[in-house]
Amino acid sequence: MASKGILVVECGDRRQQTLARDIRELEVYSEIMTKDLALSQVADLSSRFAGIILAEVSDDDRDRLGEEFTASGLPQLILRDEASEKETKALVQNFVKNQTRADANWTLDAYVERQVQAIRQQVGDRRAICGLSGGVDSSVAATLVYKAIGQQLTLVFVDHGLMRKNEGDQVEAVFRDQLGANFIRVNAQDRFLDKLAGVTDPEAKRKIIGEEFIRVFEDEAAEIGEADFLVQGTIYPDVLESQRGDKLVKSHHNVGGLPEDIEFQGIIEPLRELFKDEVRQLGTHLGLPEELVWRQPFPGPGLAVRCLGECTREKLAILRDADAIFREEIAAAGLAHELSQYFAVLTNLRSVGVRNGERTYDYVLALRAIKTRDFMTAEWARLPYDLLDTVSRRITDEVAGVSRVVYEITGKPPATIEWE
Ligand code: XMP
Repeated sequence: MASKGILVVECGDRRQQTLARDIRELEVYSEIMTKDLALSQVADLSSRFAGIILAEVSDDDRDRLGEEFTASGLPQLILRDEASEKETKALVQNFVKNQTRADANWTLDAYVERQVQAIRQQVGDRRAICGLSGGVDSSVAATLVYKAIGQQLTLVFVDHGLMRKNEGDQVEAVFRDQLGANFIRVNAQDRFLDKLAGVTDPEAKRKIIGEEFIRVFEDEAAEIGEADFLVQGTIYPDVLESQRGDKLVKSHHNVGGLPEDIEFQGIIEPLRELFKDEVRQLGTHLGLPEELVWRQPFPGPGLAVRCLGECTREKLAILRDADAIFREEIAAAGLAHELSQYFAVLTNLRSVGVRNGERTYDYVLALRAIKTRDFMTAEWARLPYDLLDTVSRRITDEVAGVSRVVYEITGKPPATIEWE
């Protein structure tokens, strides 16, 4: 790429992602590097960048760091560590516009065009395969690659039976019917549920699902025949995380991991440069439906980690129906965009109730709704009482098997967002 962007060097904590977004708002490309990585190529930086921002530098380091980056010959902005977010944004945007010759060509149209060219060149007349999870990243990646190579791409959607209500059908409707892609839905519900029978330990459940997912994908790939490339929905924050060598905070974020022993000639990662909100914008730009683009994060092991204890077909059916009612009412109240995640959890606890004058002994269902910026910490959402009341009444009226509905009022920490 001949055009030049802005390099953001991370010196302090993690605010550099916000800075990089502030720059991209000006349609200027921005990239984040650790200080060591940037310094290791300091003489070459001017071939790719038009300016450098050193983020959150302490007063002690100021002069020394400025000096070290002088070798780049690029204009620098050194930000102190105590400036407010708003002040910083104004400083950064002013610097980029007025003190550098950065190119303003970071637009969705240009991005799509570049990616389509690059993917066509990479794949040639060969074939690619993409595992769809129903999530935003894999959906947008698949759509972009489809735009580039059409029927040379095969989409594989493993339905493990742990999706939310109607979710599998929605994925199928979008990719098979609307887009017209080569789409394979593997109905593997029985395979997963049989493996999960009798298993109650949360870690064991996750492990079984992760492993089974790989097996199913392998079987399917063998059936499809050789694919040369694997498409992955890696996004920029994932790239930064592995660049820094961060340990994954949660060891369980592995479902949807793909087999290492299937050999591919290459990986296609068309979202590697994008932040999450850019991925969403791109999804909308490419015509994906709102509900898919704005889908809340959903754990790889799906409803299994929200169906406490053993996952039986009966418990999953109760959970799916109750969760659908909760989501419907949140949407009707216009709160969907305000909440980061909201879902039902079927506890493994039964309690006594009374229905039509008869004693019942049914499950306790919990509702969880949270707000968070980064999912590392979260607060429970103060949902209106009337909304909670409607949801509770509807669930106990419409879903057999639930005797009580409770609302969770714990933040993260100390609780995690998911219950298992
Ligand atoms: P916790 O429960 O650890 O969740 O506070 C933090 C965020 O991660 C999601 N989550 C998962 N995502 N595979 C995933 O892809 C998983 O196994 C998994 N477990 C939790 C969770 O929904 C929340 O957004």
